[in-house]
Amino acid sequence: MFLDAKKFREALSTFATGVTVVTTKDGDGESVGMTASSFNSVSMSPPLILWSVAKNAKSAPAFKDAPYFSVHVLSSNQIEISNRFATSGADKFKNTPHIINENNVPLISDCTSRFDCKKYAVHDGGDHWIVLGEVLTFEDSKREGLVFSGGSYATATLIK
Ligand SMILES: Cc1cc2nc3c(=O)[nH]c(=O)nc-3n(C[C@H](O)[C@H](O)[C@H](O)COP(=O)(O)O)c2cc1C
Repeated sequence: MFLDAKKFREALSTFATGVTVVTTKDGDGESVGMTASSFNSVSMSPPLILWSVAKNAKSAPAFKDAPYFSVHVLSSNQIEISNRFATSGADKFKNTPHIINENNVPLISDCTSRFDCKKYAVHDGGDHWIVLGEVLTFEDSKREGLVFSGGSYATATLIK
């Protein structure tokens, strides 16, 4: 079936999401990361999450090969980090406070939450790879999360 790509993208963008940065190291030991809103929970037992990476992204081979990666849920004051990690070819880690964990994964500071994963599976998803991770550890700071909706950043207003 033929779909109008622009209208399809617009319709998909009505689904408000959080914003994450997913990080790992490539085979040369270089830190790799990209902004991703495709993150979702999958399973409680075992604890699984997923996200999808465009096959034509520079970071795609690293994420396909890496045994470990971390998903950082960005806080509402991390728009700059979101934009930096959405810019292909940028020196993404230079001005981003981070440490390297015991699995050689760069961890970005001051996020809302973080999920440290071991690669569980990579599935074909058309022009994306669907990456499943088994969560080994996580952190939850309770900071206000960043929202992405209709192509714009937002914050969530809670309905009481
Ligand atoms: C809010 C937001 C969400 C995004 N979500 C995804 C995503 O889930 N998967 C993806 O492949 N690209 C996503 N992107 C685009 C990538 O972040 C962008 O293409 C990035 O430049 C890829 O980096 P690389 O080419 O250096 O690997 C998103 C961008 C933004 C701004």
